[in-house]
Amino acid sequence: MVYILLYVLVFFIISLLSHIFRRTNNKGLNKGIRLPPGSLGWPYVGETLQLYSQDPNVFFATKQKRYGEIFKTHILGCPCVMLASPEAAKFVLVTQAHLFKPTYPKSKELLIGQSALFFHQGDYHLRLRKLVQGSLSLDVIRKLPVDISSIAASTLDSWEHGSVISTFQEMKKFSFEVGVLAIFGHLDANHKEELKKNYTIVDKGYNSLPTSLPGTRYRRALTARNRLSKILSDIICERKEKKLLEQDLLGCLLNSKSEKGEVLTDDQIADNIIGVLFAAQDTTASAMTWIVKYLHDNRKLLEAVKAEQKAICELNAEGGQTITWKQTRNMPLTHKVVLESLRMASIISFTFREAVADVEYKGYLIPKGWKVMPLFRNIHHNPEYFSDPQKFDPSRFEVAPKPNTFTPFGSGVHACPGNELAKMEMLIMIHHLVTKFRWEVTGSESGIQYRPFPVPVHGLPARFWKESITC
Ligand code: HEM
Repeated sequence: MVYILLYVLVFFIISLLSHIFRRTNNKGLNKGIRLPPGSLGWPYVGETLQLYSQDPNVFFATKQKRYGEIFKTHILGCPCVMLASPEAAKFVLVTQAHLFKPTYPKSKELLIGQSALFFHQGDYHLRLRKLVQGSLSLDVIRKLPVDISSIAASTLDSWEHGSVISTFQEMKKFSFEVGVLAIFGHLDANHKEELKKNYTIVDKGYNSLPTSLPGTRYRRALTARNRLSKILSDIICERKEKKLLEQDLLGCLLNSKSEKGEVLTDDQIADNIIGVLFAAQDTTASAMTWIVKYLHDNRKLLEAVKAEQKAICELNAEGGQTITWKQTRNMPLTHKVVLESLRMASIISFTFREAVADVEYKGYLIPKGWKVMPLFRNIHHNPEYFSDPQKFDPSRFEVAPKPNTFTPFGSGVHACPGNELAKMEMLIMIHHLVTKFRWEVTGSESGIQYRPFPVPVHGLPARFWKESITC
């Protein structure tokens, strides 16, 4: 017991000294340049407790009100600089992106796989990014509406019995299927089932305490991740034997050769497949859950969206066809609903980078090694750029937002390569939802939960019924 107390005391003193050292040291590093305003909170814990004891967006918004567009804090053991202006976000993500590298906790890197593109910058990132972007380009995804439409229809049909479901959990099933389609094309049912089973365990471990003790969620997730490597290696092996030149992500990764003629290893391919699946699933599911809520809460708007979609549906019924790529590009109102939902919900509320050198921004020092967080949500909710920001108003997108103020898919070298696919799958899902179903949100609780993306409380429990007269 005495040893433990002694250990805690020594740990506390070291943390305190390093905290004081860091403060004084930073003052001397770059004479004349100050650290941004703000508080670093308590030694070691910083302001982590304040952040987690309230809605993180309230935490950031309060700080922004007090200190302005750039301020410092200390969370999860790291000193951070928060940036809440479009110019500052552009500085970090676009114009000076080489001075800021992506940064993720090691525990998360291990689950996804360390070769996944979003952990890297420089040549390796560029090479992988071209491949991922190629497989998600407009030319490739324009062939997907028929398949996505059939996934949306069968997902919705499985909810039609009027029992309460978690909209978010069901939307996750849909976005997983679409992710698998974009990555593998048509994957056989056995592989898909195995992939889903093990990926679900990894997903559950992702936000758990990263301890490898037997029986913990994190440990189970690591074990499932090893199984995923084996499953993916089998799929890769079969695809290599077939010698097909597919345009899906797996095809692009398998056919890639570097300038020196090097091919990607199976591990690099597996890490990037898991990475894309991870980037695609919860983000899109969360956005679609918000869309279901916003449409439910805005009845007049829902009727107008219905009218737009029914017109398409009737046209297709006459010609005996399902929704086409061209139609997904011509849904003016529904498209604005998607954009406004992305702004309101700001699924990726902020992102993390780490300064690779001392950087000066507007007379302030961002010290090397500090985390830097562009706060997308604060920008999306700033009345200077979006009037009456808490109001759900798709018509605001009749005029293009000011440059760098609307970045639901990020910006710069790491901006989302899946943005067009994400928008297309949302439009197709809305098409089926509003033309064939009515729904009712159950429960009286309102609010946001972070999983880690913002989702309506309890994943938006709701009942869905198929309309007897569809278009
Ligand atoms: C509504 C849905 C989505 C949202 C809001 C979203 C948002 C974002 C954002 C903000 C970033 C940049 C993160 C950063 O700079 O740190 C990003 C990156 C990424 N997203 Fe998405 N995303 C969505 C859907 C998708 C889909 C469907 C895919 C793939 C099929 C995808 C694949 C990726 C990948 C691979 C990256 C990393 C890019 C890189 O590091 O170069 N995302 N996403």
